[in-house]
Amino acid sequence: METVILNPTDLTRAVTALREGQLVAFPTETVYGLGADGLSASAVRKIFEAKGRPQDNPLILHVLDQAGLEPLVQGTLPPAARDLIEAFWPGPLTVVVPARPLIPDVVRAGLDTVAVRAPDHPIARSLIAGLNRPIAAPSANVSGRPSPTTAAAVEEDMRGRIPFIVDGGQTRVGVESTVVDCTTSPVTLLRPGGLGVEMLASVVGEVQQASGQGPVRAPGMKYRHYAPKAPVVWVQSHEVSKVAQVLDDLAREYGSIALLAPEGFPPPPSGRAASLGDNDVSAAHRLFQAIRALDEGTPGAIVVVWESDRGLGLAVRNRIEKAATVRVVP
Ligand code: TXA
Ligand code: MG
Repeated sequence: METVILNPTDLTRAVTALREGQLVAFPTETVYGLGADGLSASAVRKIFEAKGRPQDNPLILHVLDQAGLEPLVQGTLPPAARDLIEAFWPGPLTVVVPARPLIPDVVRAGLDTVAVRAPDHPIARSLIAGLNRPIAAPSANVSGRPSPTTAAAVEEDMRGRIPFIVDGGQTRVGVESTVVDCTTSPVTLLRPGGLGVEMLASVVGEVQQASGQGPVRAPGMKYRHYAPKAPVVWVQSHEVSKVAQVLDDLAREYGSIALLAPEGFPPPPSGRAASLGDNDVSAAHRLFQAIRALDEGTPGAIVVVWESDRGLGLAVRNRIEKAATVRVVP
């Protein structure tokens, strides 16, 4: 299959493709999504094929606003969902709510709930408005790989597998949306993301963490994720001297290492380095792209230095933890 890169000034072709049940990768404010008509089971099945995604991992439906959500919800919208939507939509917040049967089984992987968000990106919004139906879209990477934050990263994974990619430049937030189960009281954080939990708590009060026990709540949580080709080593510290010592040991163990760390860490004895900047927002913005870029140098290992769990730091930490094969706490 030939993959065509579309310029965002004319989205007619992309909307037509979605109407015909084809796949279109497009930017959102978080990461690039791989979109299909969310109410067409046959279109949505193509997403699972193109990504190599396990069938038991449900998708997010993308709508414009609360009015777009309401026809998808079974019964009345949970009050917590309503309050969160009012505060944070459009934006990097996904709410899990009871699902109407009209939503194809394949979208929600057989669950009786559905995940919905309203993206804050003009291209994503134009596509939803043009199709005039919800768009189902997971991140536009091959399953298990780092999420794409540029059209080039989508192309790297999806060339030959999908017909269209809309190139809207680098995404702003850089990590995926925060997923909140609003069918529980208090609400449950299923995936930390582009909206900090502190922000959620400021609206709904208590937010419970999904426990590791019992049935898997966000099915996506059980798979290894975000992994480049090189092994990832997570060094959980922000202390320069301690990290320098660990880097010496790791360089001996892995040969060449590539370093991804906040501002102010000296480069490793051998190999390349990239910066996460000096705060949680810049770290989220840069994380996935930097991992893909460092991976191109085929290092023996990519060492990621990160500790903070404040604000977007929690999402950054979560993604590193899932990508890592080893964690070092110096
Ligand atoms: O920012 C984002 O959320 C991006 C952009 C494209 O919108 N999308 C994204 O989708 O990250 P994906 O498929 O990579 O992640 C969706 C997450 C998975 O962890 C999935 O298991 C969970 O949401 N999820 C989807 N539906 C669910 C449901 N009904 N109940 C619980 N978790 C659900
Ligand atoms: Mg994903």
